[in-house]
Amino acid sequence: MRPGQTRQEDAPTAEGHGAAAPGSVPRQPADPVGPAAAARRPQGPPEAVAPGRSRDLPGTGVGVRPQDLLDADAADREPVRVALVGAGIRGEIYGHWIAEHPDRAQVVAVAEPHPDRQRIAADRHGLPASALFADWRELADRPRLADAVIITTQDAQHVEPAVAFAEAGYAVLLEKPIAPTEEECRRVVDAVSRNKVPFGVCHVLRYTPYTRMLRDLLAGGRIGEIVNVDHVEPVGFAHHAHSYVRGNWRREETSAPMLLAKSCHDLDWLRHIVGRPVRAVSSFGSLSYFVPGNRPAVAADRCPDCVLQDSCAYSAVRIYGEHLAAGDLAWPLSVLTPHPTEESVAAALCTGPYGRCVWACDNDVVDHQVVALEFDGGATATFTMTAFSTSRPRMTHVFGTMGEIFCDGSIIRVTDFRTRATETIDVTAPDTDDPLLSGHSGGDAGLMNDFITAVATWDDHWIADTAAEALAAHELVFAAERARHERRVVHLD
Ligand SMILES: NC(=O)c1ccc[n+]([C@@H]2O[C@H](COP(=O)([O-])OP(=O)(O)OC[C@H]3O[C@@H](n4cnc5c(N)ncnc54)[C@H](O)[C@@H]3O)[C@@H](O)[C@H]2O)c1
Repeated sequence: MRPGQTRQEDAPTAEGHGAAAPGSVPRQPADPVGPAAAARRPQGPPEAVAPGRSRDLPGTGVGVRPQDLLDADAADREPVRVALVGAGIRGEIYGHWIAEHPDRAQVVAVAEPHPDRQRIAADRHGLPASALFADWRELADRPRLADAVIITTQDAQHVEPAVAFAEAGYAVLLEKPIAPTEEECRRVVDAVSRNKVPFGVCHVLRYTPYTRMLRDLLAGGRIGEIVNVDHVEPVGFAHHAHSYVRGNWRREETSAPMLLAKSCHDLDWLRHIVGRPVRAVSSFGSLSYFVPGNRPAVAADRCPDCVLQDSCAYSAVRIYGEHLAAGDLAWPLSVLTPHPTEESVAAALCTGPYGRCVWACDNDVVDHQVVALEFDGGATATFTMTAFSTSRPRMTHVFGTMGEIFCDGSIIRVTDFRTRATETIDVTAPDTDDPLLSGHSGGDAGLMNDFITAVATWDDHWIADTAAEALAAHELVFAAERARHERRVVHLD
């Protein structure tokens, strides 16, 4: 037996950590919304009913035992009622989790303008026409009909629905980034705080089994004091071409800078595992390769017309053809067309954004970036985001005074300088056979588990990312972007 396996049995997993027994979730009162109703809801952490929880570490995921809480009054519980705002790629993932956990949550309404996506969601959740809305505003205008809303619209469409549903008394799970600007992020956090509604940002990396294990190890002093961290996000050449050259996150003005759109996860995660505020940041990075100047002379505007389609690394015909050939019809093919077939994908490549030559797009986000961080107390960290890799999980080295840790989402390898021993702990996410539930190394499932628990108990201490923490992570991203643009070190208060 590997040394880590013994510990691992005790370790939280995406399903086990905080998992409620089937049928064990209390329904939020379907009371009218407003200050009086808000006042009747439990406010703050329930001191007596959460054995094993540490109030000193709110939202850390360390020592949290929602199961104990939920077992206490299982008989009274009904599924949490959820409204989905946006039934695109992310909405479908969270909807899938809910469909797989019918005793814990139910989708009772969907707001989605795309007719195919709305129909797929309606079929999956068995919704009548009266529960379907073409726009989130129509849903927000109704008296509150769910306990929680999950907002998975595009980056620039987060603020208005988040504020509106918080004002209406819904618990809010909001996709990252909170918003494209610092001011808008503060507006959202102010709205959820004023209305005292449970609020989570989908910083899914916090909810993975490996993050929880890593935090346990670091908090337990396994490698002494953290001195520095080296964290790499290998986005992957095909993923980068899909999302950040041809796709939805290619332009800052329509989505957000790359560091916010993609790597806000990573700066949040670094703060989370080091467990201290950042006091200074610098950053470099640019769009270096996916620019018109690098386009081969013979390249066509669209890959299906290009003589290089069989040899170009970034050929859309090759990239999407490989997914089709493997029978993998989920992301990224489902972004091209809701029903991927050879014909529908070929049509999308001939007419849509995903068939464009990577050197003939209107992209402007960086394809590589580094960030250097100094934490309170002097620990340091470096973060590297690169398009130029194969697609694989993030890799992290944590260097401590008494040991070092390497992790990659599947394993954590701990070397102890005192004993000279190295142990490898398997932290593979459960449900790895379900591509939707295993997403982000189990983080998608872990997030849903904890958010639904938070709504059931009306207590956002179950959420590993408080509103203040999420805001601080976003402020760090904006500071890093200022540092990159102004070529200077930015000091944070
Ligand atoms: N947490 C993560 O790891 C992660 C991963 C990928 C994407 N994201 C974020 O999730 C969000 C959604 O990404 P996606 O890939 O699902 O995008 P998507 O485009 O597939 O989904 C967005 C959906 O919102 C719908 N929509 C548009 N206007 C609407 C309106 N007025 N009312 C209701 N719905 C409306 C669209 O029709 C679409 O179906 C983005 O902010 C993205 O940055 C997060």
